[in-house]
Amino acid sequence: MINAQLLQSMIDASNDGIVVAEQEGDEDTILIYVNAAFERLTGFERDEILYQDCRFLQGDDRDQLARSRIRKALKEGQPCREVLRNYRKDGSAFWNELSITPVHNAAENRTYFIGIQKDVSRQVELQRELDKVRARLAELESQLHA
Ligand SMILES: Cc1cc2nc3c(=O)[nH]c(=O)nc-3n(C[C@H](O)[C@H](O)[C@H](O)COP(=O)(O)O)c2cc1C
Repeated sequence: MINAQLLQSMIDASNDGIVVAEQEGDEDTILIYVNAAFERLTGFERDEILYQDCRFLQGDDRDQLARSRIRKALKEGQPCREVLRNYRKDGSAFWNELSITPVHNAAENRTYFIGIQKDVSRQVELQRELDKVRARLAELESQLHA
């Protein structure tokens, strides 16, 4: 095993956001830890956002399929991985590949959640361009064979 201090500095050195949340009532999972990469990714400092549910990153853009899938997984105590639109403190949008895993702490008989956030905006944009090119290609092919 590595010691707790080394583990802490590893988590803080990570390039992806790493957060820990706990259940608060029926509806919320509130942040109790965020690493430095989460602060860089979102533009929020930890003191501004601790003890809040992470849904604030969705702004008014709440009508997303990924959100209901996350909600369902959390309710069922299942891990999930989803890509959803989030917004930084300055209002700019990014695509967030979010992985959430519930972790049961037997000592407290309590479940915590670890969340890992990765900015996949470039990949999502490239995929969209690829989809457009493929659609155009299919159109041209059907014209050719008409
Ligand atoms: C550990 C953890 C990290 C989360 N990180 C994010 C995040 O980075 N961005 C986001 O939009 N939602 C995040 N969520 C999901 C929201 O907190 C919330 O669960 C989701 O929006 C579904 O619930 P709602 O429909 O009540 O908002 C996270 C949830 C957990 C438990």
